[in-house]
Amino acid sequence: MPNVTFILDGQRRSFDVDLASMPYGHHGLRGSLLDVALNVGVVVEHVCGGNCACTTCHVIVKSGAEQLSELSDDEADRLDAAWEVTPQSRLACQAVVHGDVECEIPVYTRNYVEEGGGIRLGRIHT
Ligand code: FES
Repeated sequence: MPNVTFILDGQRRSFDVDLASMPYGHHGLRGSLLDVALNVGVVVEHVCGGNCACTTCHVIVKSGAEQLSELSDDEADRLDAAWEVTPQSRLACQAVVHGDVECEIPVYTRNYVEEGGGIRLGRIHT
């Protein structure tokens, strides 16, 4: 069972995820970082609904990049438009989890209005 860690504002929240039984909400690819995040209650913006058509789900993979699906040409093209892209950047809606992964949700992709003015760390449940 993969362990997925999301880092928000320097705080790490980890989840053991049963990908086989996790409900699919049709936001991003099945089993993607976005799909996982939404299932565990972590806020990841996804303005285009997880269709690789925006960059609001940009995350920076801190470890476990080899445990994600390969970067597709479409994802790479879209990432070119993201702000402050790094070699570890991925689109959460396209990066499918196959093992343990840690990723950071950049502060500039956060929606502080939805998250309550930045006071709380989204809708995280452990
Ligand atoms: Fe738009 Fe991922 S949600 S590209």
